[in-house]
Amino acid sequence: TIGNSTNIQWHSCSVQKDDRHSLLHQKGCVIWITGLSGSGKSTIACALSRILHQRGKLTYVLDGDNIRHGLNKDLGFKAQDRAENIRRIGEVAKLFADAGVICIASLISPYRRDRDACRSMLPNGDFIEVFMDVPLHVCEARDPKGLYKLARAGKIKGFTGIDDPYETPIHSEIVLKHGEPCASPVEMAEKIVVYLENKGY
Ligand code: PPS
Repeated sequence: TIGNSTNIQWHSCSVQKDDRHSLLHQKGCVIWITGLSGSGKSTIACALSRILHQRGKLTYVLDGDNIRHGLNKDLGFKAQDRAENIRRIGEVAKLFADAGVICIASLISPYRRDRDACRSMLPNGDFIEVFMDVPLHVCEARDPKGLYKLARAGKIKGFTGIDDPYETPIHSEIVLKHGEPCASPVEMAEKIVVYLENKGY
């Protein structure tokens, strides 16, 4: 039995992952960008996608906010809904990586357990966690969508960092720390590119 289904079997095709990879001249993987709202996840995701695209690499960005407009529009922000949001995006990212695409997922993903569950769905090394290490007070000062203000005023309940948890990653492959030299969005994205190059992606 798989989930709620019984009598289902896996069907393999003769065109395999390696065939797709050699056609595209690239190896698929998932870059998973986690961090508080306003930490710059989407900006880095887009900057990274642009750099890789210019180098002839096929990428696709899965942004939490955007996916909540469609596939995940039935989900809210309770822990259970966030877990399901992350699980679905993890499954979609896994399909993109299997197709040979460099998939960039950018979502708060506040719970370590949910992030690690996505990591365990992928072959070793193909899940690259990037932590946007930006202090809450910096994100709150930026407040690009005015959501922190609403959360402080009690108009949004369960806002990450205010009255909902964010579990700091402990084993991210890449940490992009606020306030360090070379911390412009493009420079941060370039750090991810260097990592990918070194790992042969
Ligand atoms: S999660 O936790 O991974 O399921 O969240 P995600 O799918 O990335 O969605 C986060 C964006 O939703 C907006 N938003 C909230 N964020 C956190 N907590 C609450 N309660 C909330 N309500 C709405 C917010 O714009 C987040 O966008 P980003 O890009 O992170 O700022």
